[in-house]
Amino acid sequence: MAIPLTATLPARRALRAVLPVRLRREAAALHAAFGVRGPLSVAAVRRIVRAVAPHTMVPPVGIAFAAQRAAEAALSGRGGAIVECGVWRGGTSFAMLLAQRAAAGRVVCPVHMLDSFQGLPPVQERDGPLARAWQAGEAPDDPDANCRAEETAVRAARDRLGFGEAEAPIHRGWFSDTVGPLAQRLRAAGGVALLRLDGDWYDSTVECLEAFLPVVQEEALVIIDDYYAWDGCARAVHDTLSRHDLAYRLWTAPGAQGVWFVKRAARKSLDAF
Ligand SMILES: C[S@@+](CC[C@H](N)C(=O)[O-])C[C@H]1O[C@@H](n2cnc3c(N)ncnc32)[C@H](O)[C@@H]1O
Repeated sequence: MAIPLTATLPARRALRAVLPVRLRREAAALHAAFGVRGPLSVAAVRRIVRAVAPHTMVPPVGIAFAAQRAAEAALSGRGGAIVECGVWRGGTSFAMLLAQRAAAGRVVCPVHMLDSFQGLPPVQERDGPLARAWQAGEAPDDPDANCRAEETAVRAARDRLGFGEAEAPIHRGWFSDTVGPLAQRLRAAGGVALLRLDGDWYDSTVECLEAFLPVVQEEALVIIDDYYAWDGCARAVHDTLSRHDLAYRLWTAPGAQGVWFVKRAARKSLDAF
């Protein structure tokens, strides 16, 4: 339940006093989402957050941020594609498609959806003790364990939302097999207008950064969802930027839902980043 942005302070305090903790948390999460700025209206963001909620584990603020940035990419006139590595049930990719439809009336930048549909690969030492403990706690006989999603369910949800294979191609397989060929194809098709990485672990993040960074358009955004969540993801970002001597500044995404950076070879003015 959302506390309307227009509610007065006393009204909000009164609401807070009567709402149970879980509802208060949900209200705060939605409130944060509607504060994420961009071309989409609060009403449009609300519709998108609601539509994709059954298909995502990303909180509303992360969905709102991805949606606003996708809308900007669609309106930028630069063309190219959007790529999400690690889509699980597809919700964030769907938000980036719905955002374009809301902002531009159509999908300008196809959203490429990449996933193993077998869950996360085994944790490595560099992913850190928390990741190791988390994966060890996943029940091996649970079909949903370890972030596993069904490709058929993702395709069905995509179709229900009215998007076809051309607008939202699904690339099944381990990133080590899929990202290289896709990056080659996108290089010849306008590059990547927005890259969103949500593969959790060190290797998954490095593989995607190495493949796609060279074909991300200059001035385009890269969002890394798991930077604060997992040690391996943070290491992957630092290692890759450092290995390629890149001075991209990391910014905390709204709600600390990951980080983002702009692909920009050098700072051009002392007055602006
Ligand atoms: C945290 S979930 C993604 C959440 C999703 N973006 C959402 O909107 O809810 C991580 C996903 O990354 C996928 N993944 C992680 N590493 C991978 C790899 N190396 N190759 C393919 N898929 C991978 C997993 O299968 C899982 O579906």
